[in-house]
Amino acid sequence: MGGFSILSLLCLLTFLCPFIHSLAEPLESFSFRSSEYSNISYVKDSGICETVDGVGQYSGYINVGADNHLWFWFFESRNDPSTDPFVLWLNGGPGCSSMIGLFTESGPCTVNSDGTTTTLNPYSWNNYSNILYLDQPFGAGFSMGPTLANSSAAATYAWTAFQVLFTSDEFSQYKDRQFVLATESYGARFGPVFINYFNSQNELIDNGDLDGVKVVVSSLMISDGKHDPLINFQSLITFAQDAPGYGPLDNSSVISKITNAFDDTCSGLLLDCYSTDPTESSSADKCNKAITTCTTDVMDPAVGDRDPDYLLAIKGSSEAIPSTHYATFIRRDEVQQAIGAKLLTDDPSFDQCDDPTHAAFSNQEKLGGRFYRSSRSLQMLDSVFSSG
Ligand SMILES: *[C@@H]1O[C@H](CO)[C@@H](O)[C@H](O)[C@H]1NC(C)=O
Ligand SMILES: *[C@@H]1O[C@H](CO)[C@@H](O)[C@H](O)[C@H]1NC(C)=O
Ligand SMILES: *[C@@H]1O[C@H](CO)[C@@H](O)[C@H](O)[C@H]1NC(C)=O
Ligand SMILES: *[C@@H]1O[C@H](CO)[C@@H](O)[C@H](O)[C@H]1NC(C)=O
Repeated sequence: MGGFSILSLLCLLTFLCPFIHSLAEPLESFSFRSSEYSNISYVKDSGICETVDGVGQYSGYINVGADNHLWFWFFESRNDPSTDPFVLWLNGGPGCSSMIGLFTESGPCTVNSDGTTTTLNPYSWNNYSNILYLDQPFGAGFSMGPTLANSSAAATYAWTAFQVLFTSDEFSQYKDRQFVLATESYGARFGPVFINYFNSQNELIDNGDLDGVKVVVSSLMISDGKHDPLINFQSLITFAQDAPGYGPLDNSSVISKITNAFDDTCSGLLLDCYSTDPTESSSADKCNKAITTCTTDVMDPAVGDRDPDYLLAIKGSSEAIPSTHYATFIRRDEVQQAIGAKLLTDDPSFDQCDDPTHAAFSNQEKLGGRFYRSSRSLQMLDSVFSSG
């Protein structure tokens, strides 16, 4: 997600350091040292989004290297910030901004259709937790830095970000708090890889082989997880037969059509993709063909004319959620100024999802079907479960 040992000397000097650790190889000792390039720069209490009196917030950048800046937005709990759990929220993609989650899922406000005003979210997760929304990897949302190509590389920077946070005056109070990593979609890959990496770093710290702050995640939440297409496409059929809370979504002729398509073509093509040799140039083509066929013959008929994100709405209708009003909102100059998105550049662009990141991950992972076959991430999930 390499022979990097030649770079290990640089470790002492730069933030390339965490990057050289990958799960695939023995971990080398790395000490986090705060430096002129690793710090947080933020705006405190911008008054944007969280409007409840006395509830604190920080928005800005966790700098993890001279040109590596991870955008974050943190809200204190509306209840008791000094004892409530700490939540890290990550959207998926790969390359999608966690501002999606903030404004359309779990955050303190939603944006109205005018794109300029907000409404308090009474069900915000910060009613009972301190929550940090992080745009990662670089390129997602307002974050800036090198384009990464796998979750292992992303994990090293996320770990470094927590070294910066948990040694800072503002955030060190959360380092021993119950820590929930909440994620969705492609986060089903990020989550397990991150926690495994954090755990291996913690072990080095415990053994005295690494100087750093432990990052101990207490629970992992995955919603709408993108694990493995064989599992995911098959579960679309189960869901269409009987969606919890809705009942059957499709009639029996559609169900039998998608069941046959899965059994007769889709599953076989996926297994073909999984078994390809990464050095074979036809590998990516086989995998693309499998996904296209399964999407057309299983997913599309299962979804029918519903909005795939909101089953009660018709595809493309105005009631479809999540709405993108929030993107209009945070693209506004005044808003960016207020939240500190302009601290580091005059013109921070904002896209919901970063295409170069998505392409880099896909290109690396679809070789040999790795993009699609998630046995590795399921193994990691297993090892996260086993770690307690
Ligand atoms: C992750 O990406 C880096 C840089 O592109 C690469 O060197 C490394 O081998 C990848 N790791 C995995 C597990 O694919
Ligand atoms: C924080 O780090 C950035 C580089 O990431 C640097 O440009 C900036 O000067 C640093 N700020 C302070 C106050 O050291
Ligand atoms: C969450 O907090 C807000 C602001 O204090 C409050 O208006 C709302 O009722 C709370 N919601 C719940 C479910 O407790
Ligand atoms: C089943 O649903 C499909 C898609 O909505 C529709 O085209 C078809 O006419 C339906 N068949 C029956 C027997 O109701």
